[in-house]
Amino acid sequence: IKTRALEAAQAAEDAAALEAVRIEYLARKGLLPKVMQELKNVPAEEKPVFGKTVNELKNELTELIKTKQAEFSTGGASAGAGFDLTQPGQWQGLGTRHPITQITDRITQIFQTLGFTVADGPDIETVFNNFDALNTPADHSSRDEQDTFYLNNGDLMRCHTSPVQVRYMMENKPPIRIISPGRCYRRDTPDATHSANFHQVEGLFVDENVSLADLKGTLSYFARELMGPKVNIRFRPHFFPFTEPSVEVDFTCHVCNGKGCRVCKNSGWIEILGAGMVDPNVFGNVGYDASKVTGFAFGMGIERITMILYGISDIRNLYENDVRFLSQF
Ligand code: PHE
Repeated sequence: IKTRALEAAQAAEDAAALEAVRIEYLARKGLLPKVMQELKNVPAEEKPVFGKTVNELKNELTELIKTKQAEFSTGGASAGAGFDLTQPGQWQGLGTRHPITQITDRITQIFQTLGFTVADGPDIETVFNNFDALNTPADHSSRDEQDTFYLNNGDLMRCHTSPVQVRYMMENKPPIRIISPGRCYRRDTPDATHSANFHQVEGLFVDENVSLADLKGTLSYFARELMGPKVNIRFRPHFFPFTEPSVEVDFTCHVCNGKGCRVCKNSGWIEILGAGMVDPNVFGNVGYDASKVTGFAFGMGIERITMILYGISDIRNLYENDVRFLSQF
């Protein structure tokens, strides 16, 4: 049987012939299962040898059939009829990474060189994580249904990546150095600069004696890595419920790439991110001792940075997935 089976498989010239061999020997009603049924009639002392021999044949034959099947399906040595090996391949074109992904990766890499790791959180959040724990007053306008998407169960679509701060601090002790890129949702009417869902990168640094100067140093380094060595940054006083003091951070608008630097259209300062020192109330809400630690946090919109870096004037281009647009990046 062994010789016959292996020779038959070896001789099979196409997938159909091979399948016939498989059915003849290996299928449920094939020869090998039948032989195996004879095991009960074999004298006890010969049973092990008998079983082993049949099993070895089964394995060897299965392997051989598998190898030959693979050969047929890739049009290997003995490719069957109807397959023209001289036909040139069809070039499908290489994909590119989406500009938002490219910039997210670049921002992430810059902070990774400073020792930040990436943390993640869900798009659907609790009101507590998105607002309450972040010290947002009950009557703050961002809580309004006009601004935030609420779900029937009382949760919401996060309107910023800041709830990841809350999640991370609740689960980890300081020191903390994280960034968290992700999707956010706001009730905005789409136009050239607004989209109801967009992306942010959150940053959080918590340790003993962290100061506003550390925030400024970190963001200066980030600005130069992102846009080139000529970029300066400035802090403008601002308000966020979860940071005190709060600042908005502007960059001077030079965009440098391999081909040189250009100055943005309305040259001067452009607003890039929100930041500040973590409000002691936030530390209290996540169970930290606000007398022992300080920290800074920041959040930036990825679309805006992407548009500035690539000179894109309409945010909607980033969501339409038009290959003519995407293949330029
Ligand atoms: N969450 C703020 C926003 O969406 C940005 C921010 C993050 C500000 C962290 C300060 C600290 O506008």
